[in-house]
Amino acid sequence: MNAIIGQPVNRVDGPAKVTGHATYAAEFDLPGLAYAVMVLATIPRGHIRSIDRMAAEQAPGVLAVMTHEDAPRLAYKPIAQRPQVDAQSGEQLHVLQDPEVRFNGEPVAVVIAETLEQAVHAADLVQVEYARSPALTIFDATKGRPPSEGNVKAGRVPELGRGEVEAAMAAAPVRISARYVHPREHHNAIEPHVTIAHWEGENLTLYDKTQWVDNDRKEIAHVFGMEEERIRVISPFVGGAFGSALRTWPHVTLAAMAAKRVGRPVRLELTRRQLYMSVGFRPHSEQHLTLGATPEGKLVALEHEVVQQVGRYEEYAETALSPTSHLYQCDNLWARYRLVEMDTNSPCPMRAPGVVTGVLGLEMAMDELATELGLDPLELRLRNYAEQDQQKGLPWSSKELRACYAAAAERFGWSRRKPEPRSMREGGMLVGYGMATAIYHSDRSAGSASVALTGNGMAVVRSAASDMGPGTYTSMTQVAAETLGLPVSHVRFELGDTNLPFAPVHGGSITMASMGNAIVAACQAVQKKLAGLARAAQNGPFAGLPEEAIAAREGGLGRADGSGPVVPYAELLRQHNLGWVEAEGSAQPGEETQKYSSAAFGAIFVEVRVDEALGTVRVPRMVGAYDVGRVINPKTARSQCIGGMVGGLGMALEEQAEWDIRFGKVMNANLAEYLVPVNADVPSLEAIFVPNDDRNFNPLGVKGLAEVAICGVAPAIANAVYHATGRRIRRLPITPERLL
Ligand code: MOS
Repeated sequence: MNAIIGQPVNRVDGPAKVTGHATYAAEFDLPGLAYAVMVLATIPRGHIRSIDRMAAEQAPGVLAVMTHEDAPRLAYKPIAQRPQVDAQSGEQLHVLQDPEVRFNGEPVAVVIAETLEQAVHAADLVQVEYARSPALTIFDATKGRPPSEGNVKAGRVPELGRGEVEAAMAAAPVRISARYVHPREHHNAIEPHVTIAHWEGENLTLYDKTQWVDNDRKEIAHVFGMEEERIRVISPFVGGAFGSALRTWPHVTLAAMAAKRVGRPVRLELTRRQLYMSVGFRPHSEQHLTLGATPEGKLVALEHEVVQQVGRYEEYAETALSPTSHLYQCDNLWARYRLVEMDTNSPCPMRAPGVVTGVLGLEMAMDELATELGLDPLELRLRNYAEQDQQKGLPWSSKELRACYAAAAERFGWSRRKPEPRSMREGGMLVGYGMATAIYHSDRSAGSASVALTGNGMAVVRSAASDMGPGTYTSMTQVAAETLGLPVSHVRFELGDTNLPFAPVHGGSITMASMGNAIVAACQAVQKKLAGLARAAQNGPFAGLPEEAIAAREGGLGRADGSGPVVPYAELLRQHNLGWVEAEGSAQPGEETQKYSSAAFGAIFVEVRVDEALGTVRVPRMVGAYDVGRVINPKTARSQCIGGMVGGLGMALEEQAEWDIRFGKVMNANLAEYLVPVNADVPSLEAIFVPNDDRNFNPLGVKGLAEVAICGVAPAIANAVYHATGRRIRRLPITPERLL
């Protein structure tokens, strides 16, 4: 049989998705379903003086109106260790528990009605009177403070360094220094967040949009003071998330409270506008870099400070310094991370959280240094290539970044670049070529899966994993099919249900490195179990053989020495009068984390066309080459990479929350005014995968492919704009008004 891993298998869930048979959270149709709509605060800070709910309660179809005055007091039980995706310090929002308003958009009431329309109408009738207090709505980078202990413990370092940076910087023959700003950005997945909550006695079922069903359950158990076993979370399909569904947000709690209040299943769906206040965002950031180098372009000193906004009631912090710590060889380094408190809902992970920010500053600064030195930007990167992770003092588990640079530069035609800015033109447009490096640390986490071989020749693989779009269903099916020696069509993978074996968070690019290896283990476990049954049998082809004499091959079991036929699993099950056989397997990181530093790498090259009269930037093409370890499915992998390019294009040229300091509010909270790339903006996108197979990192050899794809894209575009125009735009997005 041909290898299945490495094949561009079509999405196994594709037909269900395009024919409407894939059931997303909002689409579970329960008898007696009622609808809840949130009412959100309209002041940035203060408290509720009074709520007039009479008109809402009397409106047609209304079942209940709930506010802090009559909502049940919830347990919000402290848990010893919160999952890493949650804020590591402060306290999550306790919803409808007191009259205080902590940010503009905090839920102050929820209206439950027979229909969605009735609930929307009645929510409009709730009158809230507020007493406003002074609010922190202005980002002032000088007010930065270090992250708190909880975040530091969780790896969000406040400061790192090596060598003698001050002396080295002072002595550096060439120096550049620059400040870069990028604004608050929002995930804007196509599927809004939604929860259906259904109580049956003391048991709660949640149909939810989530990237981690197990954490959803844990969080709600903690909020309600319930045993986890009483909660089941179901989430088979997620219509994009980009990090916004890693955590369990207060609306999930509200849905469960509302369902309990009316004694019926309740659906609570956030409007597009509410998403901007309810499910996190990428925090506004400002960063300052100073680079010192020799005239030959060898980095001798690097200083990097990143300052980001944070909400006040809980503290979300990012790993923004990690790229600086190890992307380039530099003996003298100092980096610092600071937070500025503001009265806003809490930020959260979004598309390579922190890392994309750190890479943005570093890669724009490297371009400025290349200009200062009169050196080709790619050559500058090569001269500072990090042969090991200098901060950790560990070798890379593998690193094919040189091959990425070479492959992408060749494909792009980087050698045609004329070094001088404003020196390339075509059809009345200024043409610019820019490049940047991408990096994202590779992690893995413990997870489990089960595999059942059935009498009809199928394998059913189960794990509480998620698929927010990258193709988990498909790639995991391939891993199982290859390990079992079955065709893809004979394997079914089920995910998104807390009743299934535990899976880690579907984020941080860890899913394949974690779950892929768990699935291999589960497949091997079921093969072993079946072999055990066959050996123990009275008769049959393997009766009485020692364990090592049987090997799994080609969809069945055979003799390890190759003699005799391969007996298919289904036939063995029949011989032994079994309907099915099932086993569980798990995988977890081991000592390799002490021996190696692991990361995915990429090199991004882009061309821009700038219309100087209009200040518009178009990006006709991008080429990225990636070292992501082994590629399980080149088709879904390409989708990931071009998706990252599109996200990076949005970051460079379009995305920006317009924050009004008077109201502490995002004013363009809709997809008409918050711009994201559309088809007309998206150029020719090409993704190349350089061969690699990182067995030092994990047995499957994958590194993880997701976040690396957006890292480096925005700085490559900004650098290309400089090359086209001779102007450094250090504040993203690069809009016409900034370029004119
Ligand atoms: Mo990703 S921001 O870890 O969903």
